[in-house]
Amino acid sequence: MQIKSLMKPHLRKVKPYVPGKPVEELRREKNIEGEILKLASNENPYEPIDEIREAIIEEIAQIGRYPNSGSHYLCRELADHYGLAPENIFVGNGSNEILDLLVRAFIESGGEVIYPFPSFIAYPLICQQAGINDIKVGLVDYRIDLETILRTITPDTKMIFICNPNNPTGTYVTDKEVEKFLSSVPPEIIVIFDEAYFEYVSADDYPDTRKYLETHENIIILRTFSKAHSLSGLRIGYSLSHPDLVTCLHMVRQPFNVNRVAQTAARTALKHIDKLKGRIDENALEREFVRNELINIGFTVPPSQTNFLLAVPGMECSDIVDKMMELGVIVRGMAPFGLGHESFRVTIGKPEENRTFLKTLKKVL
Ligand SMILES: Cc1ncc(COP(=O)(O)O)c(C=O)c1O
Repeated sequence: MQIKSLMKPHLRKVKPYVPGKPVEELRREKNIEGEILKLASNENPYEPIDEIREAIIEEIAQIGRYPNSGSHYLCRELADHYGLAPENIFVGNGSNEILDLLVRAFIESGGEVIYPFPSFIAYPLICQQAGINDIKVGLVDYRIDLETILRTITPDTKMIFICNPNNPTGTYVTDKEVEKFLSSVPPEIIVIFDEAYFEYVSADDYPDTRKYLETHENIIILRTFSKAHSLSGLRIGYSLSHPDLVTCLHMVRQPFNVNRVAQTAARTALKHIDKLKGRIDENALEREFVRNELINIGFTVPPSQTNFLLAVPGMECSDIVDKMMELGVIVRGMAPFGLGHESFRVTIGKPEENRTFLKTLKKVL
């Protein structure tokens, strides 16, 4: 007997998440001795600020004790930060956990979710794990097509995921587009705005979705400390929504879902949020530099409002991602995102890292 045959039928075909290749794994596999540059997972190239490091060290003395169960203090501080009430906030083990909780709380097996494609690679995984149907709506000019998403709604649609800006394209939907979209979405469908990269956005017409919280009980905004705050490794994200939706999330979460060190680090990050500006400004400058270079080489690169770029080759080429890896530069191949083998996504690194990436790419081509 195979143990897998005892699994719930809908789970037997789940393909586990494959992350960007970790540095140590590549070193072992390819026997690379020199420096390896990982630009594959949209992480922040900088370490967390010193204040976070110090707060973490102090918190370590307490890790024999369970954390605050509902991330009470962080909720209050996020509420102050956003001009909301603590009841509007929910904190999760990464914003990924909140996505998972939402699907588990609101969609029965056989229910249906709509999301753009390509978009965040966790969406199909979460749907598969929950045994629900997912409808993928293609992008137009690398942008999310809200009008077609609206036309795709069926009586079974329970939830819509809008990744804004979108991973892996870096593009965004505007304030006006979102306004129009929300005016047509039935109130019994929950709309998730996944804004993991919102700190990097500089476009004036990017929507401030918080303004819909008072009028729409069915929307939830997901944000994270993983990206701009350099805390991916601690797993902490949060949501902003109507308090009733927060209550539902508390009903399905595990007792101590967010660890103590992560809560402390996030609270410290929020306290010193002004320190992010320099890094965000540098990211924007470097993003434009790398984009222009890639376009000059012959790639199509959608304009990005994030800390990464999608590169789609306009020339004959093969095995770019593998050859880059052999030379110690890890970028994310886009085949799992449905974008063809030779397209890749590259995270914006420190200035010198971006130059190493470009030099290596030119060598490979
Ligand atoms: C669009 C999007 N949403 C959510 C996440 C996950 O964030 P977290 O680390 O908070 O779970 C990512 C991470 O890559 C992402 O790209």
